[in-house]
Amino acid sequence: MNSTKAERTHVWRNYFTMIFRAGLPWVLMAVCFLLSLGAAQLALVFANQVADALSPRNNLSDATGPLLAAFLIGMAIVLLKVVGAHLQGIVTAKVDRNLQRYAVERVFYLKTADVESGDPRELITRLTEDTTKNSPFLVDLMINEIPRLYYLIVATVQVAGIGRPILTLTLLGVIPVVFLGSFVSGRITFKIRNKIQTKIAALTARLAEKINHAETIKAYGTEDKEIATGDAVIMELDKAKKQGALVDQTNAFIKNLMWFLPLLLIIIPPAVLLFNGEINQAGFYAYILIATTFRTYTAQHLDLWVFLKDAQGATLRLSGLLSKESEKSDKPAKIPSPGDIEFSDVSFAYGDHPALCNVSFTAEQGKKTALVGLSGSGKSTALNLIEKFYDPSAGRILLDGKDIHDMDYEGYRSLFTYLPQNAPGFAGTVRDMLNYCAPTPYDDKTLSEVLKTVGLGDDFEPLGGLEYEIGDGGERLSGGQRQKLGVARLLLCDTPYVLMDEATSALDVEATADLQEAIDKAMAGRTLLTVAHDLTTVKNADRILVFNQGRIEAIGTHGELLQTSPTYRLLWKEVQAA
Ligand SMILES: Nc1ncnc2c1ncn2[C@@H]1O[C@H](COP(=O)(O)OP(=O)(O)OP(=O)(O)O)[C@@H](O)[C@H]1O
Ligand SMILES: [Mg+2]
Repeated sequence: MNSTKAERTHVWRNYFTMIFRAGLPWVLMAVCFLLSLGAAQLALVFANQVADALSPRNNLSDATGPLLAAFLIGMAIVLLKVVGAHLQGIVTAKVDRNLQRYAVERVFYLKTADVESGDPRELITRLTEDTTKNSPFLVDLMINEIPRLYYLIVATVQVAGIGRPILTLTLLGVIPVVFLGSFVSGRITFKIRNKIQTKIAALTARLAEKINHAETIKAYGTEDKEIATGDAVIMELDKAKKQGALVDQTNAFIKNLMWFLPLLLIIIPPAVLLFNGEINQAGFYAYILIATTFRTYTAQHLDLWVFLKDAQGATLRLSGLLSKESEKSDKPAKIPSPGDIEFSDVSFAYGDHPALCNVSFTAEQGKKTALVGLSGSGKSTALNLIEKFYDPSAGRILLDGKDIHDMDYEGYRSLFTYLPQNAPGFAGTVRDMLNYCAPTPYDDKTLSEVLKTVGLGDDFEPLGGLEYEIGDGGERLSGGQRQKLGVARLLLCDTPYVLMDEATSALDVEATADLQEAIDKAMAGRTLLTVAHDLTTVKNADRILVFNQGRIEAIGTHGELLQTSPTYRLLWKEVQAA
């Protein structure tokens, strides 16, 4: 999901939209702002107080009061800064947290096609890393910028009040010197940080996929090949990081230079004026104190600029993700009225790859419709379109005569339970798997009964029963157990429409027959669309659709299709030969 030209043009609009939608801790930010403003004001008072304390006096005891006051003001500044920095840290953490929550929500509501348009695993880095790169800029800008500008303006007015134009000029001369440094440093920082983040995302994505499929790598003996290609990604990251280290040092150099050069600029002119007797000592000290803080506040724009560039990069990477259409609607979900499902001249392609071509059929309400056909003929795609994972590129899909395109995702999908092909479980216990779609957890009796129904009555008993941990993606289950558990979960969901894709393909003949019987019993009166290679499981369907290379070759009952469809006859012959 690389950034588009429009996203680059609207990067700052996207940035603020994103952050404001995620939510900001306004009260805490207001407190931080006041602390920051207080510190800026006290810094001005401090300079004048010290100048006053150091003014020529008759004896030292006359200076004690002003010195003590300057000391107390100094301590107050320290206190305000420490408390302010601490609260600002909390604000930053809260903004990160809100943005992460917002981004995670958006990702789960992305349309399937958008998730698939990039590398979904790179999303992980977007969610964990990029979401933390936006807050420093906003927090610094909103909390500290106005106090900083306030200080810079008031300080300039005060120095102008001394009546020596050279002092005002040197003070203002600090600004271009610091800004030039900031600009150079910001540009190189942006480029390299962007590059490092992209490389980290690529490495995470690569390792996540390969480590998750370690068995395949071992089975083919391709460990060394994988290590070599993994190494190439690591080396690219290494290169980017080395460039990053150079950039960091260049930044440090510029930063030090920005400390040193303005300091010379600040000290020399008033020192000359003091020697010439054109200003007194108090004026000299007041100017030096004001000007050094002036330099510090100006130099903080260097940090702000770096934060800005970081935020710009992170926004570009994130807005590719967050500006996509969401499946979540602001309006309350509307559950459509049930009826027949009708495909009317539907075509669909995955990118340039056509998968369905002018498909028309009706799956009657309350009936069992089977989808059969050779591998790759478009059966799963048809179910994916019914589930609204994708929109047809042509034609319409209707529910009870109405186009499903106009129905909200949540309300429409609430009518369906879908058991996708090879549907994995998630890490957790057998109980978690069965309760996955339950509004409230089922009781043990219901769970034990459903396990018995799908033929898993005794399987988990020696392993801890319902508390057995099935592992990532159900990896600690056999292929058949995984399918049976998927069916068990499906049987627990009481929706009027059920979509099943190869629910029993991993089972032996006897287990398939038993499970099919349980499924047919549970589905009586509900609308079932089922995909199967094993025609014995769909022989009794009210209507069978034969898919052939993305088209419908024939529609009918088992008996009819044996007469009319060559593909069906072929598939049936295979079943009988098995
Ligand atoms: N996510 C995807 N992206 C791109 N192409 C896809 C995707 N899913 C399926 N296809 C392609 O679409 C076509 C139809 O695939 P589909 O999965 O619908 O077939 P199927 O009939 O379910 O096959 P099988 O019986 O093997 O499950 C195939 O050519 C396949 O390569
Ligand atoms: Mg399929």
